Amino acid sequence: MTNKEQFDRKYKEHLQRKILELKKKKGALIVAHNYQRDEIQEIADITGDSFALARAVTEAEQGLIAFCGVKFMAESAYILNPEKTILLPVEEAGCPLADMATVEKLRKKKDEYPEAAVVCYVNSTAAVKAESDICCTSSNAINVVRSLKEEKVIFVPDKNLGRYVREHVPEKELILWDGYCVVHMRLTEEHVLSTLELHPEAEFIAHPECRKEVLKHAGFVGSTAAMIKHVKKSPKNEFIVGTERGIIYKLKRDNPEKTFHIPTDQFICANMKLTTLGWLARALEKEVYRITVPDEIAFKAKKALSRMLEVTA
Ligand code: 13P
Ligand code: SF4
Repeated sequence: MTNKEQFDRKYKEHLQRKILELKKKKGALIVAHNYQRDEIQEIADITGDSFALARAVTEAEQGLIAFCGVKFMAESAYILNPEKTILLPVEEAGCPLADMATVEKLRKKKDEYPEAAVVCYVNSTAAVKAESDICCTSSNAINVVRSLKEEKVIFVPDKNLGRYVREHVPEKELILWDGYCVVHMRLTEEHVLSTLELHPEAEFIAHPECRKEVLKHAGFVGSTAAMIKHVKKSPKNEFIVGTERGIIYKLKRDNPEKTFHIPTDQFICANMKLTTLGWLARALEKEVYRITVPDEIAFKAKKALSRMLEVTA
């Protein structure tokens, strides 16, 4: 190990100890999304996909939650639990996909299709959730759409997830939004095919935010938590992973004997990586940044989120 590596390791351990002390002193809970940096996932009390984290915060007995993820996730946690203090360590950690749907545009779409139900992927702003009938995550989108009595559904904002749901629920007419995840769109069919050529024994698994031509090569499609579960119970030993590289931490931890390949170097969500140990320590120390949502928006958005939790109970 070089001097620099030794220094980095010591500094990491120092910050992790500091965070754990602060967590104990303040009686906080640390939750982290599966895309967070390894060193954050290592010390989180709970790691998971966006659905699991929303549930975990709701079930937690702690009143102070450090949410290592992006803003829409912390907002959902607040909307479901306004009595708790939800901290997002980096205020700028947003999600470009969430910003691709606006209330004004959604209202126009609703005027165009007054008979349609609005299903809103949780990767959206609180205001857009407030304009929707029900929310979904990548782990329950198919069941949520199936549960509706309306035949027409406006699906915001991710067109790739919407298209994937449409294929599984052909009895519904899905009106798709032109939104997409900038990170998952970077994965092309060529990336997948060339990685499969290099590793013909590997199974390609993918997140439904990937392009249609990418998903057609996947042996398994699911949320980050579903992918982790699939790999654990699969008899296969080698996987090509079609989602943000942060997921590799848990895949390797749970399956040290298995091999994982990332088909492109571009598979990195800059927003998810903004949260560092230093920012997390600061967040716990100063109790920042407190995420809140105005009451009138939170009240309506809670209905859409709670309805999702009922469908997937
Ligand atoms: P999951 O709900 O599958 O964790 O995904 C969230 C996300 O932001 C995917 O890009
Ligand atoms: Fe948003 Fe995509 Fe990052 Fe997920 S991976 S948080 S959808 S930008």
